[in-house]
Amino acid sequence: MTSASTYDSSSAVAEFYDCVALYAERGDIEFYVAEARASAGLVLELGCGTGRILIPAARAGAEVVGLDLSENMLERCRVKLASENVSVIGRVGLVPSSMVNFSLGRKFSLITIPFRGFQHLVETSDQLECLDAVARHLSPGGRLILDCFQVKPEAMHHPAWQDEKEDSPETLLPDGRALRRTSRIAAFHRERQVNDIEMVWYVTHADGVKERLVWRVPLRYFFRYEVEHLLARAGLRLTAVYGNFDCSPLAADSPEMIFVAEKPA
Ligand SMILES: C[S@@+](CC[C@H](N)C(=O)[O-])C[C@H]1O[C@@H](n2cnc3c(N)ncnc32)[C@H](O)[C@@H]1O
Repeated sequence: MTSASTYDSSSAVAEFYDCVALYAERGDIEFYVAEARASAGLVLELGCGTGRILIPAARAGAEVVGLDLSENMLERCRVKLASENVSVIGRVGLVPSSMVNFSLGRKFSLITIPFRGFQHLVETSDQLECLDAVARHLSPGGRLILDCFQVKPEAMHHPAWQDEKEDSPETLLPDGRALRRTSRIAAFHRERQVNDIEMVWYVTHADGVKERLVWRVPLRYFFRYEVEHLLARAGLRLTAVYGNFDCSPLAADSPEMIFVAEKPA
């Protein structure tokens, strides 16, 4: 089980998370907010991070609990939340915890694990513990929605993926710093379905001083039927698999694998 968050190993991760242009283009906020609005009860977001999805869901009227292991990510979320109106703030609860084996003493009608949070659980035992905890926290008929990327074959082994590629072009921050980000696969571990991902932030301060901040994180990749089996082992019934946030069916070239499962009534 994870005890400390890899997200807190570099302060750059939480500080710059909401500046990554790539994240704004995902189209997942609208999807998850619509699902939160459509569910008639409490919503739990596992790995809520800085509130990128959680805060818009609360703005749309959902009562949401956000759980995250990273103190830095939760702190960003608290700061952002503080500038919302009182009714939005009143609809949000934040819980510092691992998504592996949590116990909140409440039931939820919707539990989400957006933006690949489940892929941080590298060990099968942690994935199953997490899904068991999800099943315990769902009301009968309640749903789980989680997304993973659909891994490209070259991303499992091709040396070209080890080269740094810019994924966020230079942006000027309000305090005068310029920021750009690259990412690469630092190591392949095919036998464990794990890639070590390296993200590098290039920061140029207003006085011209330059910094290169590196963060490395292991990420598990899944195949469709593996996730379907994991869900079944937790007693959850699969109701849909999408290939993108427009709810199109999963296809060979889909970038995402979005699983919707329900706890039988
Ligand atoms: C890619 S971010 C997604 C954040 C947010 N859901 C979003 O869509 O922007 C993944 C989040 O999962 C959290 N996380 C990773 N491992 C976790 C664990 N074992 N338990 C709880 N949260 C975890 C990280 O701290 C991070 O905030």
